Amino acid sequence: MDGNFNENDISRVVEADRAHIWHHLSQHKPYETTDPRIIVEGKGMRVWDQKGKEHIDAVSGGVWTVNVGYGRERIANAVRDQLIKLNYFAGSAGSIPGSNFAEMLIDKMPGMSRVYYCNSGSEANEKGFKMVRQIAHKRYGGKKHKILYRDRDYHGTTISCLSAGGQDERNAQYGPFTDGFVRVPHCLEYRSFEQDGAPQENYGVWAADQIEKVILAEGPDTVGGLCLEPVTAGGGVITPPEGYWERVQEICKKYDVLLHIDEVVCGVGRTGTWFGYQHYGIKPDMVTMAKGVASGYAAIACLVTTEEVFDMFKDDATDPLNYFRDISTFGGCTAGPTAGIENMKIIEEENLLQNTTDMGHYMLDALHALADKHAVIGQVRGKGLFLGAELVADRSSREPVAEKLVQQVVADCMGQGVIIGATNRSLPGKNNTLCFSPALIAKKDDIDQIVDAVDGALGRVFA
Ligand SMILES: Cc1ncc(COP(=O)(O)O)c(C=O)c1O
Repeated sequence: MDGNFNENDISRVVEADRAHIWHHLSQHKPYETTDPRIIVEGKGMRVWDQKGKEHIDAVSGGVWTVNVGYGRERIANAVRDQLIKLNYFAGSAGSIPGSNFAEMLIDKMPGMSRVYYCNSGSEANEKGFKMVRQIAHKRYGGKKHKILYRDRDYHGTTISCLSAGGQDERNAQYGPFTDGFVRVPHCLEYRSFEQDGAPQENYGVWAADQIEKVILAEGPDTVGGLCLEPVTAGGGVITPPEGYWERVQEICKKYDVLLHIDEVVCGVGRTGTWFGYQHYGIKPDMVTMAKGVASGYAAIACLVTTEEVFDMFKDDATDPLNYFRDISTFGGCTAGPTAGIENMKIIEEENLLQNTTDMGHYMLDALHALADKHAVIGQVRGKGLFLGAELVADRSSREPVAEKLVQQVVADCMGQGVIIGATNRSLPGKNNTLCFSPALIAKKDDIDQIVDAVDGALGRVFA
C-alpha cells in the first residue's frame, strides 16, 4: 500500500460503506457487528484491504475478471488519453478504439465477423437472445423462438438471463421467468450416475444426445438457439466430456439451431486459448464475452457474430424493421475498447496464453497431489487457469460436503491471506466446488502459495 490512507480516513470509509453500500451477493446482518471488507489497492496478483493486510488473489477480482493482474499503468494511461480525446458517443456511430479493437478481436476468432458492444455479460447474452427472437420473427413467423440452456450453466442476472439459468437456488424467488427458455441436462461426467440412463462409456456423446431429445420433444421448428458455456464456471467448473462438443455442433446443424457460446468467463485467455470454444473445434454463430475482455480496467462486453447472422439483419433494406433495433448506451464508451486493446497486447507481448497453459498444468498437478492427501477432494478438473476441486463427504457415494464446510475452507484461506472462491448458493445441495482462477500472470510460487493455503485449510476444516 502507498500509505495514502490514514486510520481516520479508513474508519470514515468503513462507516460510509456500512451506512450506504448494498454489497453484491451479500447478507448484511453480519456487518452490523463486523466491518465490511474494503479492497483498497492491487498490484500484480495481490490486493490489500483496509487494514493493510496483503492477499494473493486466486480468483482474479473475485469473479474471473482481472486476467492481466492489477496496477497496469499502460492500460490506465491509454484509457486516460482516450477519455480526454473522446470519452463517448452513442454506438450508432463508430469510434477509433471501437474499430481497432473489433479488428484485433476478429483476428483471434476465425469464422467470426461482427462485434456488437455493450457493457455487461448479462447484457451481451440478452442481445444474443434478442437476435434469436428477431430471426424467428423475420424468417419463421415467430415460431422458431425457443432458446435452450443447460442445467448448472449461468448467463447473467437479468430476468431473461435467469430464465436461461440452470442454477435453481440462484433463480429462487425471482420468477416468474421469461417464456420460451428450455433446459437441457448438464454434462458433468463425475455426477453422471445421478442422470437416468447415462452410460459408463461415451458419456459425452450421450450428454449431447440429451440436447437432441429436448429439441425433438419441443419440436425442431420451435427451437432457434442453444446457449452454452464452453466450460461451465459458477455451476462447478465443468469441463466438457470427450465427444460432447462435436456432437453438439452436429445437432445444431441438423436442426438449424443457432449456437451461442457464452465466453463471459472463458473469453480472452482464461483457459489458455483466446476463447474456450477454440479447444473443441466449435464453429459458433454467436459468442458473448465480458469479464476478461479488459480485465476490469473498464466495463465492456461484446456480442460477436458470424457474417451470416449479421446478414440476416440487413438483407432487405426496404423493410423498416429489418435491422437489429437495439442500443446499449454505455456500449458507446470508448474506455472499454481502449482498455481491451491494451489488455490484448499485454497478453500477446507477455506470452500469457502459454503461461496460462503451463501454469494451469502445474496447478492441476498440485491439486491432484492435494487430492492424494485429502480424501475430501472427490475430483479436480479445469482447463488453463480455470480450475475446480469438488469436495465430497464420501468418495464412493460422491455425496457433496455441506456448503458451510466449503465456506469454512474459503474463510480459512482468507485468514491466511489467500482469496479463493467456491460455488455458492447456486445449486441446491451441490455448492461444493472450490474455484481457482488466478490471473494469467501467475507464477509457480504464486500457485504454491495458493495450494499450500488450501492444504492447510482442508486439514483444519476436515480434521
Ligand atoms: C458464464 C457467465 N455468463 C454471464 C455472466 C454475467 O455477466 P455480468 O455479471 O457481467 O452481467 C456471468 C457472470 O458471472 C458468467 O459467469
